[in-house]
Amino acid sequence: MAMTDLFDALQPMAELAPCFLAPGLLLARGFFDAEAQKRLAAEILAITTRSPLYVPRMPRSGKPLSVKMTNCGTLGWVSDIDGYRYQPRHPETGEPWAPIPALAMQAWRELSGDPLTPQACLVNFYGASARLGLHQDSDEGDFSAPVVSISLGDSALFRYGGLRRNDPTRRVKLDSGDVIVLGGPSRLVFHGVDRIIPGTSDLLPGGGRINLTLRRVTKPR
Ligand code: SIN
Ligand code: MN
Repeated sequence: MAMTDLFDALQPMAELAPCFLAPGLLLARGFFDAEAQKRLAAEILAITTRSPLYVPRMPRSGKPLSVKMTNCGTLGWVSDIDGYRYQPRHPETGEPWAPIPALAMQAWRELSGDPLTPQACLVNFYGASARLGLHQDSDEGDFSAPVVSISLGDSALFRYGGLRRNDPTRRVKLDSGDVIVLGGPSRLVFHGVDRIIPGTSDLLPGGGRINLTLRRVTKPR
């Protein structure tokens, strides 16, 4: 086989093989195929009927975030005028969160390298103009497990940097079905979403993007 043919044959595999963007920062492109994306998106949409998306607010200022949120899992991450925290119930309905869908659990099992199960799954919904500023995921009581982050729907421009807010940053486009893992030396890197690219996916009715962030919250006993 000619060398160029070999490269052509290997290209799809190279694109799908998980790759490290930085030590501990894994990108698994196309982890979910089209069929799995549809099943997972349908489960998340069902979760939003039981646990409706709500508008989170910044601590102190009460300024609304552009991303809408809900959760599944035993604990959910919430942000309101009183601060950031994890709680077992929806802040508006007072109901417990729904269980984390099996497909999301599968991504955790196959990519996190953590023997325990995630306690929290934050569901972020991005409409056409939503964005998420640079931040660290640091409200957990234990950082030994990674954060596993699943993209569904429209593509997003994801920004990541280092452990200090002012460290240089890079940008990567995340497509539907991609999964990012922030673990080890990258567990606490600053990251955010500059914007989504509307119209790049027809997975979600009405368009937009869903991100699922799976986390362990408490220290294992
Ligand atoms: C987050 O950091 O909470 C979400 C990241 C993303 O939407 O990709
Ligand atoms: Mn985050």
